Amino acid sequence: MASVVELAPSILSANFAQLGAEAKAALEGGGTVLHLDVMDGHFVPNITIGPPVVASLRKTIPDVTFDCHLMIENPDEFIPAFAEAGANWISVHQEACVHLDRTLHLIESHGCKAGVVINPATPVHTLDDVLEIVHHVLVMSVNPGFGAQHFIPNSLKKVETLARIRESRGLEFRIEIDGGVALDTVGDIVRAGAEILVAGNAVFSRGDIRENAETLLRAARSASSLSAPSSLRRASAQVSRTPKAVRRRRQT
Ligand code: DX5
Ligand code: ZN
Repeated sequence: MASVVELAPSILSANFAQLGAEAKAALEGGGTVLHLDVMDGHFVPNITIGPPVVASLRKTIPDVTFDCHLMIENPDEFIPAFAEAGANWISVHQEACVHLDRTLHLIESHGCKAGVVINPATPVHTLDDVLEIVHHVLVMSVNPGFGAQHFIPNSLKKVETLARIRESRGLEFRIEIDGGVALDTVGDIVRAGAEILVAGNAVFSRGDIRENAETLLRAARSASSLSAPSSLRRASAQVSRTPKAVRRRRQT
């Protein structure tokens, strides 16, 4: 069954001079996973952060999941350093890994959850043989390298395909999407089956970061409850009518 939709603010669009404070504001607005984009100027035409920045953020944000999205060549060389710096999830691009199975196991061997990423031009079926061993699949809905690009609608089909494959094969990986997630796209994205929503520009670029995160997450969760099958909607309506104290007990 689909899990609760989560927001993963991407610090790529934050003001790097105030990184800790801005990341915290996005988490206060409901973000539950902090998405950290690592770019090397080779795999993608941009350069961002390395392990020291992840380690500094970890000191100031000790207890939130750090989702390191490696857009780099030769990720095996850097996985240990990102794990040591405080990453919880590490994802690598299918397109960057010659020995993808080995790389995913390397991530796990360093105590992190392993994710695999596909670019907009990479078909979902290239992942058929690793879906059993990944914690999450990240669908790029823009070409990686920059924030604030336009959402590529074909990614919706890829999310739907992944959700169908997961169901038919009885697998458990989570579906994450990255690029162009905003108020005008989030409904379709959630209805397609994405559960972890990476958002940079929509959260950090203008206005109040905390409010932006809250508004985006609210829109996502409302689209998600509307898109649940009617049997699930009935079940969640019953839960919401249950007295609070009873609900608290059930959740523990
Ligand atoms: C792009 C990065 C994204 C980026 C998304 O290569 O992987 O995480 O921050 O940015 P927005 O939300 O601005 O499209
Ligand atoms: Zn990313």
